This record gives sequence, C-alpha cells and structure tokens, in this order.
Amino acid sequence: MENGWTIHRFDQLDSTNSWLKDRAGGKPHKTAVVADFQTAGRGRLGRQWVAPPGTALMVSLLLKPNWAVERGAWLTMIAGLAAAETLSQTSGLNIQLKWPNDVVIEQDGVLHKMGGILQEAETNDGRLTQAIMGIGLNINMGPADLPPATHTPACSLKSITGDTFDRDDLLQQLLNGFGTHYAQAEQNQSPQHAWQDTLVTLGKRVTATIMRDGNPSHQIIGMATGVDEWGRLLIQTDSGKIEPVVAGDVTLRKDS
Ligand code: BTN
Repeated sequence: MENGWTIHRFDQLDSTNSWLKDRAGGKPHKTAVVADFQTAGRGRLGRQWVAPPGTALMVSLLLKPNWAVERGAWLTMIAGLAAAETLSQTSGLNIQLKWPNDVVIEQDGVLHKMGGILQEAETNDGRLTQAIMGIGLNINMGPADLPPATHTPACSLKSITGDTFDRDDLLQQLLNGFGTHYAQAEQNQSPQHAWQDTLVTLGKRVTATIMRDGNPSHQIIGMATGVDEWGRLLIQTDSGKIEPVVAGDVTLRKDS
C-alpha cells in the first residue's frame, strides 16, 4: 500500500485497463496498475494507444465509488485535473485539458496532445459501482517515438523540454493528486471550477456533433462558455440559447 493505493507494477501487459477489468471483482477500491509497455493499449473511440517501452506513464485506477451514475463524469474530471497538475508542477509548463479528456499543451497557437483518459465504468440500478480510469501520458519519448498525428499532433514532456523525467515520481504525484480531488468529491464538491480553469476549449467557437447509437445525429455550433457541475460543456448558440452537451455523446471540433 502506497499513499492509500494498492499498486501493481508490470514490465508488460496487453492493456492495464483490460488487466484490471478482468480482475476488478477481487481488487480493492483504489487499486492502481502500471505497465512499462502495453501490447494492446486502448484509447477512446476504439483507437489504439501506442508507446515504446519505458517511455510513457500508463496507469489504470480502480474505483468503487457507489455514487449516482451522473457523477461518473467527475472521475474523468478528477483524472484530468490530477494529470494536468502533475505534469505542470513537474515541468513548469502550462499543461491543460481539452474537453472532455485530452491532456494538451498549446505551442505557437497549435494544440499538441500529451495524454488522454479512458474511463470504463459499470453501473447497477443507477449507481456507479465500479470505474476503471486509464491514464496514458507521453513522458520520455523523443520526437521520433511519438505516435503519428491524428487531428491533434502528439508531444511528450521530453519532446518539449528536452529533459527526461522519473515516471515513478510522476505516478506518486498523480495518485496523490487524484486522491485529494477524490476526497473532495466524496464530500459532494464537484471538481467543476478547478477543471474549468484548466480547459483550453472555453471561449472558443466549437462544433459539437451529437451522436445517437454511434451515428451522427445533429450539430450544435456556438461558443463554448463553460461547464456545469456534471462536466457538460455549455455551448451558447448564435440564437443565445445555452446547450449543455455530454462528453459521451459528442465529437467536438474547434472551428478555425
Ligand atoms: C485516449 O486519449 O484515447 C485515451 C488513452 C488512454 C490510454 C491509457 S494507457 C493506460 C490505460 N490502458 C489502456 O489500454 N489505455 C489506458
């Protein structure tokens, strides 16, 4: 047990999320699983998550909150906050979040992705019984090791600073930060305000494509003005109406 967390460390796994998901029933609340390399790392929207051995911080956290389901978004907010704070404090850089769960840095006006979060939750009767928060952060890859750009080019702490960082120190900070924010959430305090302060998305014009059953249903275009206590992005349309959008149901594009 370290800092209230039971930690399992591996040189290699298929995916820390998959390993934990298969064993979650027998593992306690606040179990963390870390791997130096993943052979089948998973990202959001069915994407792969790839990193050369020993370069990224790849960890999955098991929580058993028994919260109302709506609070599930708080875990994504808490994980993002803990990640952005850890990376910013360690490097002195201004690491931010792109709604809902990309860890990014803005350089010369261009957003670069440094990490992301994959939440896999189980619910029962309106309660969030279990959540696995997979966090992948690009730390020590050189520019040549970075995954190819999708819509947002990738970066790492090293590709930006030239320095190498101790991934275990970062893990300890991440777990401490997550634990602190989680304790506040247990006291019914939404991470809304701290999270909102780290979002690059706000004050920008965005197009949200609302998905229904995996297919695009309609678009909401407007100014991203804030988030509510449930982490929904508030978009003010040209008619002045505020539309709240839920992360799981949208793909978001910042308009240029
Ligand atoms: C994303 O940006 O699409 C989310 C990426 C999440 C990657 C992490 S790495 C640790 C954990 N194990 C996985 O297989 N995925 C998550």
